[in-house]
Amino acid sequence: MSLALEAVQVTKEYTAPSGDGAIMAVDGMEMALEHGEFVALVGPSGSGKTTMLAMLAGLLMPTAGAIRIAGQDLTMMKERERTAFRRREIGFTFQDNNLVPYLTAIENVEYMLRINSAYDRQGRERARELLVRLGLEDRLQSLPRQLSGGQQQRVAIARSLINQPTLVLADEPTASLDTERAFQVVETMAQLVHAEGRAAIMVTHDLRMVEYCDRVIQMVDGRLERVLTTREDITCLVNPALCERIPMALLGFAEDEALNVQYVEL
Ligand SMILES: Nc1ncnc2c1ncn2[C@@H]1O[C@H](COP(=O)(O)OP(=O)(O)OP(=O)(O)O)[C@@H](O)[C@H]1O
Ligand SMILES: [Mg+2]
Repeated sequence: MSLALEAVQVTKEYTAPSGDGAIMAVDGMEMALEHGEFVALVGPSGSGKTTMLAMLAGLLMPTAGAIRIAGQDLTMMKERERTAFRRREIGFTFQDNNLVPYLTAIENVEYMLRINSAYDRQGRERARELLVRLGLEDRLQSLPRQLSGGQQQRVAIARSLINQPTLVLADEPTASLDTERAFQVVETMAQLVHAEGRAAIMVTHDLRMVEYCDRVIQMVDGRLERVLTTREDITCLVNPALCERIPMALLGFAEDEALNVQYVEL
């Protein structure tokens, strides 16, 4: 079976706002994810994480490079083909979660079924189940404005998973959640990804969340800096007192934040 995701020498150059020169936001990034892998993408602010995710989602065209999802190259597709492919194969949540304001929580999730011609009983049941798993059983009929930021974010996560995509992309999905809820949500994501064989990338500035990930990919200045694959390395991130060789600032985490992290049992 092909890899879930393969990004080869992906580059994004933005034109500078002043018009002179260019900003190299992503510079020859490489990534490969197997089906069933849950990966954290970390790095300092401005290192290109959101830009990379937007390209993997097919929302932003790279200046150069190839992005293959389930063996098919997004960059070679025509616009309409890419849109259809994205609906089917890619689920994403960005920080501004873009829920439809006049649809309820469950309708926002079901809407993704509709645009993918998958609005049937099974799909609706799955929408309900996902929202329940994410702790929203008593908010199914609420409109986005009646929900807290964290609740809206969880609706967006359910929406990203509803179509059972090959690739799930989440940009700081726990940013507006309290600690306990953040752990629950990331754990649920990890369980779904592992159980259903999806591939997921989660951008996070909260290093406690990497405990649930199989690998941690670190970006610096638009480039791949390192990949942490072993349990020990990931544990070092979560409990930096154990390990001084990974500089926290480079990972996009504040030093003092790192020191306050509680160790999480695996
Ligand atoms: N539309 C744009 N036009 C020009 N430059 C941009 C644009 N979007 C992002 N950039 C620049 O590209 C670089 C990477 O930005 P990006 O948003 O990908 O970073 P990030 O790693 O997601 O940061 P953060 O952790 O703060 O969210 C930054 O220098 C940013 O200023
Ligand atoms: Mg970002």
